[in-house]
Amino acid sequence: MPRLEVDELVVAYGHIVAVRGVSLTVEEGEVVALLGANGAGKTTTLKAIAGLLRPRSGHIRWGGREIGGLSADRVVAQGISLCPEGRSIFGPMTVEENLLLGAFLRPRQASATLRQVYDLFPVLHERRHSLAGTLSGGEQQMLAIGRSLMAEPRLFLLDEPSLGLAPVLADRMMDTVREIRRRGTAVLLVEQNASLALEVADRALVLEAGSVALTGSAAALRDDPHVRAAYLGEDTEAAVP
Ligand SMILES: Nc1ncnc2c1ncn2[C@@H]1O[C@H](COP(=O)(O)OP(=O)(O)OP(=O)(O)O)[C@@H](O)[C@H]1O
Ligand SMILES: [Mg+2]
Repeated sequence: MPRLEVDELVVAYGHIVAVRGVSLTVEEGEVVALLGANGAGKTTTLKAIAGLLRPRSGHIRWGGREIGGLSADRVVAQGISLCPEGRSIFGPMTVEENLLLGAFLRPRQASATLRQVYDLFPVLHERRHSLAGTLSGGEQQMLAIGRSLMAEPRLFLLDEPSLGLAPVLADRMMDTVREIRRRGTAVLLVEQNASLALEVADRALVLEAGSVALTGSAAALRDDPHVRAAYLGEDTEAAVP
């Protein structure tokens, strides 16, 4: 089973260097959380791994082979799938049509994979003939996750699954991450909600301004005073001027 190894990754948008030498690994079956404030470079890191942005320098290795700079569909074919921030589902298409789009590289396996996704999210099965645009926010997030899982990834890149969801639904997204891991897929989980992510992650990294500021086991980061103050909402009153 491959491992992901990101080594001194640098990614820029023109003059704006968004990721400044990030190194991280995701081992088989691990959930690794990538935390950090707005603009820290979390999404940019995921997009570079997924082949949507070309690294300016550094390495992205998957099972020891360089994948940095490969096109997005070739990265998917290697077993790495991204569920993007903001649930880019197609509202005028049905739930099932949206899911089948995710299986474009594996049309023959699609019906078996579809059953697995419906098993993970029974509500998507109930609503499989509904237009995706009529789903609630939580259901749309499930659909976005389900569509990315249709590619049968061995590494799942998940960007802000709890964004905009009520706390009870955000908790359910973390249960989903646990279930995805239980089925044998490693997860690199981007979250602004650090306390939520640290409940499910094995390890975590904190990005600040494009660099790794802290890294450690999820348990260690939960106990880290800096993380507690900056990301777990403690002593926020003291921090407000
Ligand atoms: N398309 C773009 N063009 C120019 N700059 C960008 C673009 N996308 C992101 N940036 C900049 O790159 C930096 C990192 O952005 P990124 O989206 O990776 O952050 P993030 O950690 O995902 O933040 P958020 O929590 O808000 O999603 C920010 O300074 C952002 O303004
Ligand atoms: Mg982002």
